[in-house]
Amino acid sequence: MGYLSTDKVKHHFHDVVIIGSGGAGMRCALQLADAGHRVAIITKVLPTRSHTVAAQGGINASLGNVLSDHWQWHMYDTIKGSDYLGDQDAIEYMCRAAPLLVRELEHQGVPFSRLEDGTVYQRPFGGQSREFGEGGQASRTCAAADRTGHAILHTLYQQNLRAGTHFYQEFFALDLITDENGCQGVMAWDIAKGEYHLFQAKAVVLATGGAGRVFKMTTNAHICTGDGGALAVRAGLPVEDMEFFQFHPTGIADVGPLITEAVRGEGGYLLNGDNERFMLRYAPTAGDLASRDVVSRAIALEIREGRGCGPNKDHVLLKLDHLGTELILAKLPNIHELALRFAGVDCTKEPIPVQPTMHYTMGGIPTNRFGEVVSKGADGVEASYPGLYAIGEAACVSVHGANRLGGNSLLEIVVFGRACGNQVLKRLRHHRYHPPLAPDCWQAGMERVEGWLRTAGKQDGLKIAEVRLRMQTIMQDHFSVYRTEAVMAEGVERIEALAAELEHAALSDGSRIFNTELVEALELDHLMALARVTAAGALARTESRGAHARDDYPERDDADWLRHTLAGIRDNKVELDYKPVRMQPMTVPSFPPRKRVY
Ligand code: FUM
Repeated sequence: MGYLSTDKVKHHFHDVVIIGSGGAGMRCALQLADAGHRVAIITKVLPTRSHTVAAQGGINASLGNVLSDHWQWHMYDTIKGSDYLGDQDAIEYMCRAAPLLVRELEHQGVPFSRLEDGTVYQRPFGGQSREFGEGGQASRTCAAADRTGHAILHTLYQQNLRAGTHFYQEFFALDLITDENGCQGVMAWDIAKGEYHLFQAKAVVLATGGAGRVFKMTTNAHICTGDGGALAVRAGLPVEDMEFFQFHPTGIADVGPLITEAVRGEGGYLLNGDNERFMLRYAPTAGDLASRDVVSRAIALEIREGRGCGPNKDHVLLKLDHLGTELILAKLPNIHELALRFAGVDCTKEPIPVQPTMHYTMGGIPTNRFGEVVSKGADGVEASYPGLYAIGEAACVSVHGANRLGGNSLLEIVVFGRACGNQVLKRLRHHRYHPPLAPDCWQAGMERVEGWLRTAGKQDGLKIAEVRLRMQTIMQDHFSVYRTEAVMAEGVERIEALAAELEHAALSDGSRIFNTELVEALELDHLMALARVTAAGALARTESRGAHARDDYPERDDADWLRHTLAGIRDNKVELDYKPVRMQPMTVPSFPPRKRVY
């Protein structure tokens, strides 16, 4: 490995640099390291603390181990779940590849739960059907109890250690190094040592996960700060469909941690303050296993109309004690523990108080199904951005469109992690040498850190934590499950004003060694950029589709809005643009938009 040092910046050469050590980054790295390339993963955390570890319920694949299944039924469900905003070529690719990738995980060592006959255990999840919606509920979600993400992440980490992937852990990516030939590397900050590192690479992959911390109430870890999307925006690229944030129906009330959809898949159900199984009114066929946007809206309506539970009538109840202690402890042990710790509830005896909680970022960095970042050139034609790739929740490929189905996220990370790895391999065949870089290419990244450090101790500076909380509160209040013109317009104004105030924020700690406040400031830069584009994109979309539900435009409007939003920031102003949805699958007929009922 090449390693040059100046007194200011340590300089590394790798074939590929992947930013992010979740399942997508790990799967991509494995593909490349196994092919003999020098692969680096840069991660701001210890690899096994990446947010994939928190995924609970499972990974979808039409294995048919419990009930007969077919990848085209999975494809249909995913397109319907996306409210027809998903790109159908990418969805076909993902659903076809799913069985292969799950078997591969099994062989790599993922300890899936098992059926009596030894095959991988599969449970029903929301929005799943058989025979294109005509054959009843499917059972498609492969699970390792309710710790599936944990099992997958640890397995992929172990495989990467075997394959020789180089991990730079507790390194924060500051800036993409770009020139007229594309992306050439990344500038990073070693959080522990307070040093600058320049990584030169023939391909850079953004695999940084979602941006859930834009919101106040979220199932996402504190690390989910949209770093990759914000780096792309800094580099002048747009992000796609950021107005679509998924609210999971069952976060623990008031605190947020996830209670997996697997609880309802195993037979649990929701009750309102009248002790009624209200989902049967909203989704007569699928009931509690309707898609997440439908269930979250139903809960929000029950609460809004005064049928919530508890003294403030601000949540509903998830009942599962009837499943029995043995099943709960075998299939949902993590839920049992979470409910005890965060709600003080023993779910083998009592229901869990739950409410819709921000869970997943459907939007992200626009890519094609090979993981290449795409953007429109000056001529208006979309083309891939040389040397830059994005995968997983950081990307918008777009397989989830306006609403993701549970179990498709773990699937996306392995399918497109591998697809991207294959595409990078092709690039590496023709890009054998690192081109020279501009001599000052690291300065913009370095100035981000030095700029924040210079603010340290400023007497009248706003606190980072205070600005972050105000941003999260604005997003929660103005861009939640139900949206209207007036509420969102005020939200845009407030978020823009707050973004301007961020200029006056200051650190209280000016040290360079493991300065967590500095890291939070850098993350806040990222969150704020993404909050701005989210707010602008949401206000502009005058329809209801998937997770974007407007009281003032209650219908989906395919004539005007069957298109993706592209939002970037130029000269400190948010700019919006649009592009068509890819309605043509790779090999099978298209699924045209239909009324979406469950
Ligand atoms: O409910 C869950 O277990 C979440 C799964 C997912 O978001 O895919």
